[in-house]
Amino acid sequence: STAMAGGVQCLFVALSELFSAAIRAAFPDMDEVATAINSNSRFGDYQCNAALPIVKRLKDKGVKMSPRDVAQKIIDCVPSSPLVERLEVAGAGFINVFVNKTFAAEQLRLMIVGGVPAPTVPRRRVVIDYSSPNIAKEMHVGHLRSTIIGDSIARLLDFLGHDVLRINHLGDWGTQFGMLIAHLADKFPNFRTETPPITDLQAFYKESKKRFDEDEAFKKRAYDCVVRLQSYEEDIIKAWKLICAVSEREFEKIYERLNVHGLVPRGESFYQSRMQGVVQQLTEAGFLEEDDGRKIMFAPGCDLPLTVVKSDGGFTYDTSDMAALRQRIQEERADWLIYVVDAGQGAHLQSVFACARRAGWLDGGVRCDHVGFGVVLGEDKKKFKTRSGDTVRLVDLLDEGVRRAQEKLREKGRDQELTADELREAQENVAYGCIKYADLSHNRNHEYVFSFDKMLDDRGNTAAYLLYALTRIRSISRRAQVTPEQLLEAARAGTAIQLLHEKEWKLARVLLRFPEVVVRVTEDLFIHSLCDYLYELSTTFTEFYDNCYCVEKDRQTGEVVNVNMSRMLLCEATAQVMTRCFDILGIKTVQKM
Ligand code: ARG
Repeated sequence: STAMAGGVQCLFVALSELFSAAIRAAFPDMDEVATAINSNSRFGDYQCNAALPIVKRLKDKGVKMSPRDVAQKIIDCVPSSPLVERLEVAGAGFINVFVNKTFAAEQLRLMIVGGVPAPTVPRRRVVIDYSSPNIAKEMHVGHLRSTIIGDSIARLLDFLGHDVLRINHLGDWGTQFGMLIAHLADKFPNFRTETPPITDLQAFYKESKKRFDEDEAFKKRAYDCVVRLQSYEEDIIKAWKLICAVSEREFEKIYERLNVHGLVPRGESFYQSRMQGVVQQLTEAGFLEEDDGRKIMFAPGCDLPLTVVKSDGGFTYDTSDMAALRQRIQEERADWLIYVVDAGQGAHLQSVFACARRAGWLDGGVRCDHVGFGVVLGEDKKKFKTRSGDTVRLVDLLDEGVRRAQEKLREKGRDQELTADELREAQENVAYGCIKYADLSHNRNHEYVFSFDKMLDDRGNTAAYLLYALTRIRSISRRAQVTPEQLLEAARAGTAIQLLHEKEWKLARVLLRFPEVVVRVTEDLFIHSLCDYLYELSTTFTEFYDNCYCVEKDRQTGEVVNVNMSRMLLCEATAQVMTRCFDILGIKTVQKM
């Protein structure tokens, strides 16, 4: 559908529909040919490349026609539309589309009046699994990537109007809890009545691990605790919950700083009771095979079988993921499952998907995506570690980011110009924004080098540059003494946006491409395309601003003598689209920096 909220149309969708109609009319006896509209055309604003595949199909049917003739025939059948200025055949049968400027300008005006609209897409119930750190262990940079990428995808899907459930699939069950609980019971014998003051779970983990490795009697008690945990003994469950709560509080602090909200904690333990049912179903359906005492499951397209039941009768990570998947579909009624998990678990997830498909759980058009990502490297191009070789604690990383952002702002003398509140806002938003953007702007399948120097550089494709660019746009209206309310009022009153200058037109075209970028990202879940777009928008804006006067001031008095309202509206539209992009990326903007 081409309908968009607020009456704004997605040009790309509207054009695709015009061309499908034209192709159907011009070549009715042909099977549906992909319309292949392309927006990055150097000639014209869009290009339709359908002629060549049609020539081939015709040839198969024994009809000879040149690509240029096919293109012309399509053009002749394009229904008249206000959005098309003119169409021309070029080169080997390409159709260049020139968009009508009056139409484009009106779209921009509507965008300012109604806000940046989301393209209308069929609504889905999405369960997205991300962050998912392990209890009692420190969250590491891999979990940071999952958190940042997952949050951004969830925000994107929210924006599109999907029904999104964010799940934090915590590693909260397993044998490591035996030693933690045994240690807790020794160290804080009153834990049943008094909450133990554990602040450093990391140290607590290390202590219990040391005892586990050195003390046989302790080890026995630890194993005993695992059994008692699995049979839900009250005291043991209480101890387990205490440990989980301490961990979750630590994670929560990180989410708060990163502006990550709405994640529902639902760890592996949640699926304990459901795993039995899954095993039963798979057994009855005859899907499980014996293998050396284990019960395993194969499926077409999975190289690695799942271990559904261990030889001792216990369940595994595979079992819990099967139970979680089934729960998400049957109880949560999801028709789209997304797992934001490092690429190393790709084979595991492919097997889970394949076995779920074999079990029939994915029938009825359930979409499953593993959103994988590569490892984070240090500046030495080796796995990201501290100097002493330890894993980097996320809190320390965030602290250092803020410190570095503060330094940068000082270097520029901003500490003199901004109020204390503004300065704090700037350094935090810049720091976290830069950390997030550095991650999101790289193709997630690739590894990337974590470098504070690069991410805080205010030149190039960084959050520092982009946030600064947005503050500059905002300051233009301040200088022109035009408030956002006045701009909105002007747009409502029908002030026309003129797109006469080449750079005005270039900017307008980039602005109007926003919905198609969003739709494309929803298809491949590559958030870096949105970052590329944001960067392109920002540089295109700079070109416009360097060439087109928006505000004229008197040289002597500095008084504003002329404000070009049409251009002010272009500034406003740019600021709105940029703000929308930052919002999807989960980056807080700043008023001043
Ligand atoms: N806790 C796991 C880890 O740290 C990630 C869990 C991902 N989600 C899932 N459904 N398997 O590696």
